[in-house]
Amino acid sequence: MSNKPVIVFEGIEGSGKSHHISIVSKYLKRKKISFLKIREPGGSINSEKIRKLILNKKSNFNPNTDLLLYLAARSENINLLKKFYKKKIILIDRFIDSTIAYQHYGLGVNIDLIKMINKHILSGFKINFTFLNIVSHKNMLKRLKSRKLLNRYDNFNKNFYNKVQNGFLKLSKLNKTKYKVINSNLDIKLNENLIIDKVKKIIK
Ligand code: TMP
Repeated sequence: MSNKPVIVFEGIEGSGKSHHISIVSKYLKRKKISFLKIREPGGSINSEKIRKLILNKKSNFNPNTDLLLYLAARSENINLLKKFYKKKIILIDRFIDSTIAYQHYGLGVNIDLIKMINKHILSGFKINFTFLNIVSHKNMLKRLKSRKLLNRYDNFNKNFYNKVQNGFLKLSKLNKTKYKVINSNLDIKLNENLIIDKVKKIIK
């Protein structure tokens, strides 16, 4: 694997992905290894503008509009991502799998449409490894309760999040060597160590 890999953190709300990406960034900083870290939607200035629009609680877009906005946010990141592709380690908080899991498995948007636009936007930019964080519905609710700022996508029902999480798991099974499933219902320190050990191997 490239020692400047693209590493993605995926998972539903409250699955610990943002915590885990921050653990990895702290580790890389400690080791003085340079990296780029972005989130989606968001990351670049224009993509953050689109994020605000999509996730605003007052927004009320249909699933196709949501898809196009998430992809627009990605399209606004691609110059930044390509600038550092294979030059720096890139950590991404959500990427293509989130679009397939939420928009297709969760909201029923046509998967071929998603894949086609994604392919066009990414034009050769590839992910090397994904940490898929999973969580029970009970623990997800517990973690969401402790958050101050909830967005429009934090309010779906249990059935929706089940479909999305199962969608993520299906994707991880298509290419097992490129995924590590992290069970966030287990001990947090244990998971942090698992992730750092894996990152060390990936960037070697
Ligand atoms: P975040 O709070 O983890 O940053 O995620 C924002 C929300 O956006 C989250 O509910 C998942 C959703 N999302 C999609 O539905 N499709 C996508 O393509 C992406 C990147 C995020």
